[in-house]
Amino acid sequence: MGLTATAAAVVPPLGLATGARAATATGTEPVGAVGEGSAAAAESLVFDPSAYTELTTSITDTEGTAHTVTYHFYKVASYVAAPVDVVYQGLNVSVPVAVDGTAVDATHAPILFANSVGGYMPSSVASATGIGAGPGGGGPGGPGGPGGGGSTGPSRTLLALLAGYVVVEPGARGRTLVDSSGVYYGVAPAAIVDLKAAVRYVKANRGRIPGNVDRIVSSGTSAGGALSALLGASGDSPLYASLLRELGAADASDAVFASADWCPITDLEHADMAYEWCWGDNALADGSAVDATVSAELRAQFTDYLAQLRLTAPGFGRLTARNLDDHLVRTYLEPSAARYLAALSDTDRAAYLAANPFLGWDGKKATFTWADFLTHVGARKKDAPSFDAFDLSTPECNEFGSSTTAVRHFTEYSLRKQEGAGARLDADIPEKLHLMNPMFHLVDQVNSGRSRHWWIRLGTKDSDTSLTVAANLAARLENLGDDVDLQYYWDAGHAVDNDPGDFIQWIGRISAKRR
Ligand code: DHB
Repeated sequence: MGLTATAAAVVPPLGLATGARAATATGTEPVGAVGEGSAAAAESLVFDPSAYTELTTSITDTEGTAHTVTYHFYKVASYVAAPVDVVYQGLNVSVPVAVDGTAVDATHAPILFANSVGGYMPSSVASATGIGAGPGGGGPGGPGGPGGGGSTGPSRTLLALLAGYVVVEPGARGRTLVDSSGVYYGVAPAAIVDLKAAVRYVKANRGRIPGNVDRIVSSGTSAGGALSALLGASGDSPLYASLLRELGAADASDAVFASADWCPITDLEHADMAYEWCWGDNALADGSAVDATVSAELRAQFTDYLAQLRLTAPGFGRLTARNLDDHLVRTYLEPSAARYLAALSDTDRAAYLAANPFLGWDGKKATFTWADFLTHVGARKKDAPSFDAFDLSTPECNEFGSSTTAVRHFTEYSLRKQEGAGARLDADIPEKLHLMNPMFHLVDQVNSGRSRHWWIRLGTKDSDTSLTVAANLAARLENLGDDVDLQYYWDAGHAVDNDPGDFIQWIGRISAKRR
């Protein structure tokens, strides 16, 4: 559908109902044209293929060889016609044109849609002067941040460019944004609405923007991984339509072809119970134990939640709170340890095995128990409850704040512990939870517009959330028949990307598929 034909659809309604619109109405942040001038609004969403800066950068491949990459760098000031804050609602596009002096044609290349959200905070690419220069981009301006590919080596964003792919880097509003009248305009579901609007912008510009808009691969880490999973699960869901309309989002699909999610901090309303099921027996870093009653109560809730999910896994049948540990160990953790051990030199492997006698190794397979694995991981990172903290101190309590309340409880459990048995969550919370949870779009309302290809990665020592979150997401997707590649990185902590080269190859493989 062309932009002209859909111009009317980008005119936001006059009623400014939500917190986000209230922020536009009252705030001092840069605000785009609203209301009259629908043609002008639609015009603002037309990508100009000639509006680039040509840049050259050196990108080191996974083998350590440096390459000279020339690319066209585009800055799109706003991907919506009625932005709330253009500092966050813009995107950058990088299109490779030559590698080591040989021309590259990215006209039909896959598009890596790399968000750089961390901590559900605002993320801006407005001041970036090249690829990966936003927070976490891993490029010259920001190596090692949330979106940048973690620890060492080249970032997946730069490797994507080197591979000849188009890289789109969107900004998005985040939980801490507040305007001059005290209105919070970046709390849930602002970030996902923004990312969807950015996808719509790309898809509305089919034929103008370089790359294959039917092969968009979303990526993100941690909160950004959660949003990437949500983008994948909720593609074209009608539940976001009015919010997108209010922003003047392009009238196009927001479905993405694939979703790549590193340590997704997601399924937030079940994350406290999942955390206690997983890490409940582990002490905090200072050696103290968490509240045993709270931990046990939450753990019991997880049993019920898991039963409701009705997940199955090959060799395990129905997954329950009783066999889930075995499933994690056999399906993911032992293979993870085996890959790790196999990659070590003989000397390093012998030293590792000597230092970790809980680990059995027959030269091919690693074996251990869940209990020994938990001991090996050691201290848990978060107190109980980990996400909906009683004192409202967590990022998630802020993420589920309202336009006028900085922090709120979003689980009945924590709310009632604080305010008594009769307390009720604010009326808008259930819908916000749905809008933020990929599991809702995969379990409660199975969304046919979802991605069918999934890349999911998580460190085995990452106790920012339960190890079950990624595994349950994968199990559900596999149960739906989707193509899922989930691996755990052995002994890795939070926000690590240990196989960016494999990810780039995966993009190439899946993009060649018909669907
Ligand atoms: C992130 C980490 C967390 O522990 C959390 O609760 C939310 C977000 C992050 O790194 O993005």
